[in-house]
Parts: sequence; structure tokens; C-alpha cells
Amino acid sequence: AAIGRGNYRHFMEKELHEHPAVIGDTLHRMVDPGTRAVALPKLPFDLAAIPRLTVSACGSAFYAGLVGRWWFETLARLPADADVASEFRYRAPPLTEGGLGLLVSQSGETADTLAALRYLRAERQHVLSVVNVPESSMARESDAVLETVAGPEIGVASTKAFTAQLAVLACLAIATARARGAIDAAREAALTASLLEIPARAAAVLEQDAEIQRVAAILAEARDVLYLGRGNCFPIALEGALKLKEISYIHAEGYAAGEMKHGPIALIDPAVPVIAITPSGPLFDKTASNLQEAAARGGRIIVFSDAAGAARLRGIAAETIVLPDVDPFAAPLLYAIPVQLLAYHVAVRKGTDVDQPRNLAKSVTVE
Ligand code: G6P
Repeated sequence: AAIGRGNYRHFMEKELHEHPAVIGDTLHRMVDPGTRAVALPKLPFDLAAIPRLTVSACGSAFYAGLVGRWWFETLARLPADADVASEFRYRAPPLTEGGLGLLVSQSGETADTLAALRYLRAERQHVLSVVNVPESSMARESDAVLETVAGPEIGVASTKAFTAQLAVLACLAIATARARGAIDAAREAALTASLLEIPARAAAVLEQDAEIQRVAAILAEARDVLYLGRGNCFPIALEGALKLKEISYIHAEGYAAGEMKHGPIALIDPAVPVIAITPSGPLFDKTASNLQEAAARGGRIIVFSDAAGAARLRGIAAETIVLPDVDPFAAPLLYAIPVQLLAYHVAVRKGTDVDQPRNLAKSVTVE
């Protein structure tokens, strides 16, 4: 049956409102309802024996892969690489037999990601795909598949598939950390609990639509926008910038907050909004001092943080979006939602073709 927009103006808006359900449904596939512990489907390889992880993907799926890399390294202490598939396949890195190749793709058909999969297979890696389409080419050619339970995504710019990818990668990282003995039972329980809290918090974020529209009004006047983040929220800054470019046609860059002083700081003036994705956590103070530098140069700082973080940045922030508290581990799942919603509202203000932005395709099946 054809999929409708229901009462929403665009598929993208509808799909943004599906974040809570999609994250919940995806987690339910991977978390035992009784024990509330991560319980992945059986995999045809031993997670404890994997020496190295190689992640490859394109677009937003690549950014999900970057968050995944952070989780695998910091939590599971597993050496990991992540590359855009179009570079990975031609860089042709040497790989040790028995490593794990991980592909992330909504469609399971993106040409470069599929080529990366075939390269990984030829290099005798175990091949695991995180896809939203179980009948896709990538699913068929993989040793194992972990499905994102996002349902069909019609808007060309990915939204709900992205948070579903994060949910799968978070569970896989927890399972890997457990298999490698890198986390104890108490830590594992806390991490899993922080994921299970996300659907309710995501729903609360969607209630903040009016506040996000206020920020969208500022962005709609801008020519360039800078998004900053650190750690596992650096890829969320990249995602925010990508989404804004894709659907509103405003130039945006996502940057690691600590790298700002090596370039983008030269661009900062009152006409360039600086969006900080900065939940409380071990890296908060570092980002805060980067933001002080941006503010000192006249930058218009827009903060996405929790109540404690927002309070600390109130002196320099032109606008603040206060999000629910979240364990820093799970923050990327929550913070992805307001940045996507922000891009949506900017695009609506600009009157662009939100669901089918110019020059872009939902699934890029040519090189
Ligand atoms: C296109 C879409 C993006 C998507 C990317 C990768 O560029 O516009 O939203 O992230 O392809 O697609 P995939 O199906 O591999 O996730």
C-alpha cells in the first residue's frame, strides 16, 4: 500500500516524529525485555575474537558509523576505523584476516558502500551490515545483518534511519564490550538503561518544536552556519550541517570544536551562527572554552545542551535549547533529533522542496 503523509506537511516531518517509535522498535529487537540486557541475534563469528573493526558508509550513515567508532573504541577498547566508502574502496587498505567489516546503509544499495562491502569480503573480513531494507543487496551479500527497524523512509534526507542506526551500533558496541571483558555488569546495565530511556526523551524533544522554530528563524537569514561538537557528538555536528545544506541550501560546516581555531574561527562574525552540540559530560568544559573564543569574536552562539550545560553557557549564548538529561554515552541519539528538526524548519521557511531537494537522490546506486 502507498505510504501517506498523514496530517504532516512533509514526509520528513512525519519521519522526524517517528524517531521515538523507531528507536524503541529497534532497541526491542536487541534488548531482552526480561533481563533488560543487550541480546543480539546470533552472529556467525565471535565478537570476542575480532581484532579490528572497519566501518564504511556514505552520507548520514557514515556519521552514524563515526559515532559507532567512538563507542567501539572507548567502550569496547576495540581498534576501529571509519571511512566514507568512496575513499575506502580506492584507498584499499591492507586488512588482517578475521577482522570485522561493518557497513551502514538505510537502503542497502548505495553503490560505493556495496563496493566497500565486496572489498571487505575479498580481504577475508567478516561482513556485517546495518541496513533498513532486509532484502537489499548489502543484506544478501553479508555474513550477518542487524536491521534498523525504521520502516520506509521517503524523505530524501535521512532522519529516522539515522537514529535507528545509532541504536543498533550502540547495542553492538555494548555486546562487543561485554564479549571483550571491557565493561562490568553494572556499567553494562547503566549503558543499556540509558538507551532505553531515549524514546521517551526523544518524544519530549519533539515537543520543543516552537523553540526550535525560533532558532530556525535566525538560521534562515544566514549565509553560512558553523556546527561544533566533540567526541561522540562531533558526528552530530556533521549531521546537523549536512542536513541544513541538503534541504535548506544554506552553506554549513560541521567541525570538531577543538579544531575551530585552525580555520573556521577566521569566518566568525555576527552574521555566522555557531551551533554548539554540547551535552554535559567529560568534554563539556573543552567545548565551553572554544565557544568563549567564538563569542569573543562576535559569533552568535546557539547552544544545544541540558539544563546544567545551558546554565553554564547562558552568558555567551544568543539562544539556548535545553534538552533532557542523558548519559553522555547515549547523547548522540537524542541530540540528532533537534538538529534534524532545525534543518527541517529552516527549509520550510525558505520554501524549498523539503522531501526532494534539488540534485539529491534517496539512494545513490551509481558511483
Ligand atoms: C543519500 C541520501 C542520504 C543518505 C546517503 C546514504 O545521499 O540523501 O540521506 O545518508 O544517501 O544512503 P544509504 O541508503 O546508504 O544510507
